Amino acid sequence: MEYDVAFVGLGYVGLSTAVCFADRGINVLGVDIDKNKLDRIKNADSPIHEKYINELLESAIKKKKLSLSKKVNDVTNSRIIFLAVGTPSLRDGSIDLRYIKQASKEIAIAIKNIQEYFVIVIKSTVVPGTSLEIIKNLEKHSGKKNSVDFGVVVNPEFLQEGNAINDTLKPDKIVIGTNSEKDKEIMYKLFKKIYRNNLPIIYTTPSNAELIKYANNSLLATKISFMNYIARIAEQIPDGDVVEIKSAIGMDKRISESFLNAGLGFGGSCFPKDVKALIAFSKELNVNSGILQSVLEINETQFMSVFNILKKELGSLERKKISILGLSFKPETDDIRDATSIKIIKRLVNKKAKVKVYDPIATNNVRKIFGGSITYAANSESCIQDSECCIIVTEWKEFKSLKPKHFKQLMKRPLIIDGRRIFSKKQFNKLEYHAIGLG
Ligand code: UGA
Repeated sequence: MEYDVAFVGLGYVGLSTAVCFADRGINVLGVDIDKNKLDRIKNADSPIHEKYINELLESAIKKKKLSLSKKVNDVTNSRIIFLAVGTPSLRDGSIDLRYIKQASKEIAIAIKNIQEYFVIVIKSTVVPGTSLEIIKNLEKHSGKKNSVDFGVVVNPEFLQEGNAINDTLKPDKIVIGTNSEKDKEIMYKLFKKIYRNNLPIIYTTPSNAELIKYANNSLLATKISFMNYIARIAEQIPDGDVVEIKSAIGMDKRISESFLNAGLGFGGSCFPKDVKALIAFSKELNVNSGILQSVLEINETQFMSVFNILKKELGSLERKKISILGLSFKPETDDIRDATSIKIIKRLVNKKAKVKVYDPIATNNVRKIFGGSITYAANSESCIQDSECCIIVTEWKEFKSLKPKHFKQLMKRPLIIDGRRIFSKKQFNKLEYHAIGLG
């Protein structure tokens, strides 16, 4: 069987992209070493929580547009191979290319006997220069020659968790990093089939494509830390309110309103990791990365604003009943990687507080970390019941339906710390309402 494309690595990016391509009529082969994951995908039971993904999986499998395999060797049935394995952080923050190297070696061995030209597309986030290393690795293990027998294209990903399908089907941009006209044409033909007339392609060099991804994520992280810094100032001035500041500066088209929400800091598997990797990469080049170090520093200390309020209002936290609404690193996902909730719960548990938590879908993941040391509520009302302080950590839509009367009636003391500014000060002014960026 011939496939139009193969994906090596069915994590967040690989799986979302593979299923969207299949939905657009492309014959896709998905390869992953995790048998359990493959079994779930085969049964249209996505291992990642993402809206629409199970429906798309079911239809792709039914239409035989998505096939699955555990063997990297099977990529030889495709002439376009997407590399979408993870690139985690090493201890010093630099990027760990272990999985990329391993996968490219396996692909090289697999393609040794292929006679036709093929393209390896790097979707994983990698620092500038990585594609050159991958080329060397491929040449070494396959005996083939770059540009003659195969091409390597850098095609970074910009999808957001929780909105992965929409972002993939309607991308703001498609970055294609290659110096080869032939590879450009191959990629254009593929993307034209998928995106038809909505094709915002940017052609650039491989190194620029690699850097674009880091610049994109680091700038968004910078916007957030900048607003968290403004929030800290707003909290100290009479009538200060970061939300009003955001609305005003966001009206400036040069700034735009998105990613200007102050909160308890950014989390997830991308921003913290990518900012650290760019700092480590700059260091190698002797480029001062003070700007990004400040972004991280603000982010890592932002959650402490909660404890400053708690100290003022409750004094010692020993045996105090604290409820936490929202555990995932952002709404619409069950992902708790680098989630602020974890830092907050750890500190509360250390201070011997009695912690009760609720999240619409991430509770089980948090249970794996904290086990019996905290209590898990089945809904937001029971979470805040009898509590002496409620901290809103993730801005899930359903929390917005809680009214002041719920807090008043259910809590032992209606003390609220709104870490994501989901409520308005006006609406809650009869309660003890504290919020990030509110003076
Ligand atoms: C991020 C990027 O937005 C994607 O473009 C990129 O493809 C992805 O990383 C990646 O590199 O794979 P993601 O981590 O899924 O996507 O989530 P975001 O929506 O960007 O949110 C990241 C964090 O920033 C969350 O903790 C969120 O709560 C926080 N945030 C976001 C704020 O605190 N304020 C804002 O205004 C926006």
